[in-house]
Amino acid sequence: MVEPIDTTMRLGRRSFLKGSGVAAAAATVAGTMAEEVAHGADAAPPSSGPGAVEITLSVDGKELKSSIEPRVTLLDALRDYLNVTAAKRVCDRGTCGACTVLIDGKSIYACSMLAIEAQGKKITTARGLMKGDELHPIQQIFWEKDASQCGFCTPGFVTACAAVLAKNPKATFEDMKRAVDGNICRCGTYEQMFQVFEQLTGKGA
Ligand code: FES
Ligand code: FES
Repeated sequence: MVEPIDTTMRLGRRSFLKGSGVAAAAATVAGTMAEEVAHGADAAPPSSGPGAVEITLSVDGKELKSSIEPRVTLLDALRDYLNVTAAKRVCDRGTCGACTVLIDGKSIYACSMLAIEAQGKKITTARGLMKGDELHPIQQIFWEKDASQCGFCTPGFVTACAAVLAKNPKATFEDMKRAVDGNICRCGTYEQMFQVFEQLTGKGA
C-alpha cells in the first residue's frame, strides 16, 4: 500500500513565505471582492418573493392579472391561475413540447419559463391563433389530415409550426420537421403530420 506523502513536513522557510504571500494576496483579493459584492448589493434591484406578487400577462390578446409566487412557471400560471388551458402539461420538464407557446413570436416551452419573466411579452397559445371560433389554417389542416389522436401534443405542434411559418412563409418540409424536433407525439401521428407539413409547404394535396 502506498502511504500518502506528508507535504507539510517538507516545506522549507522559503516555500512557507511564498505560500504566505499567496495567501495574503488571496485574502486581499477576497476582501476587494467582498467590498464589490457589498457595493453591488446596494445597487441591485429589489428582489421579488418568495411570497405571491401581482403580475400581469398578455395572453392571446388579453391582459390577465393574478397573484403568483415568483417560482411559478408560465405553464402553471396559465393553466392553474389564469384558466388558459390550450398549452398542455405532459412532461413538465422541457422534454415533450406539449406546453409550447409563442413568446413574441418565438416558440418556447411554457413549463421551462417563469411566469414572472413573461411579463411585458406577447404570449400566444394555440387558442389565440384562432380568429374567434374559426380555426387557424394550420389547425384546419391538422384536422383535415386527422393528425391528432388524444390531442395532448397537438397545440404544441401547431404553435411550433406557426412560429416557423411566421418567420419564413417559404419554409420547406425539412424546415417544418426541424421546427417540431422538440415536440413528441406519443400516439405516433407522425405520418399524418408529415402530410400536414407537405400541405403547408405546398407539396401536398
Ligand atoms: S410539458 Fe413542457 S416540455 Fe413537456
Ligand atoms: S395525438 Fe396523442 S400525443 Fe400526439
